[in-house]
Amino acid sequence: MKDNPTSILKHIHKYVADKMKVVDAGHNMSHVERVLKNAKQINQFEKGDAFLVEAGVLLHDVTDEKLFDKSAAEHELKIFLRQIGVEDKMIDLLLGIINSVSFGSEFDGVNQLTLEQKVVHDADRLDAVGAIGIARAFHYGGSINRQIFDAAVPPKKYRNTQEYRNSTAPTINHFYEKLLLLKDRMETPTGKFLALQRHQYMLGFLNQFYDEMGEVGFSELT
Ligand code: ADP
Ligand code: NI
Repeated sequence: MKDNPTSILKHIHKYVADKMKVVDAGHNMSHVERVLKNAKQINQFEKGDAFLVEAGVLLHDVTDEKLFDKSAAEHELKIFLRQIGVEDKMIDLLLGIINSVSFGSEFDGVNQLTLEQKVVHDADRLDAVGAIGIARAFHYGGSINRQIFDAAVPPKKYRNTQEYRNSTAPTINHFYEKLLLLKDRMETPTGKFLALQRHQYMLGFLNQFYDEMGEVGFSELT
């Protein structure tokens, strides 16, 4: 790297803040900043390379196919990283991190992840659970006019990414179909520890929710 890592990270931060201005309900710079906080907390214990973790977190959503034209976004990102002096080898490592964090990819078989990929993955997943996870789920559901809950529409297991993305189920189902599954899909011991606390919080929320509804709740999918 021609420049020092701190200055490179500043450039990347600015690039990402600009890209994330245009995206959807669940993905914005606030999400990126929260994931950064989670990643730093995890990495205190996991001890991955600090630059790769921070740059990986900052960039983890800027080529997401759900938000952008993936190949155009990746092309633009490579040009930007070269411009600010990041070497090709480092660019490949960063793209490896970015491409390993998508939830969808977990339906397509488990890859062997590097330590930094694991830390970024877990930091991103943590932002989908706990109090923030609940807020994001209802925010997302509301933004596409989903029902909150329907006793007649039980949660289901999806066989692939397409089926998962095409679902129009009420928002409560998303807890069973994704959020409650995440604690067992964490890749680092620290990530798992942090996810368990947030998991318990979501179970408490669901109990209270059903209690107030006067409904028998759904059972967890395993
Ligand atoms: P990522 O790939 O960053 O984990 P997603 O695009 O899958 O994110 O989701 C972004 C946010 O929106 C997450 O908090 C996720 O739980 C929430 N979300 C995604 N799909 C649904 C859904 N069907 N119902 C409610 N919340 C959802
Ligand atoms: Ni994310």
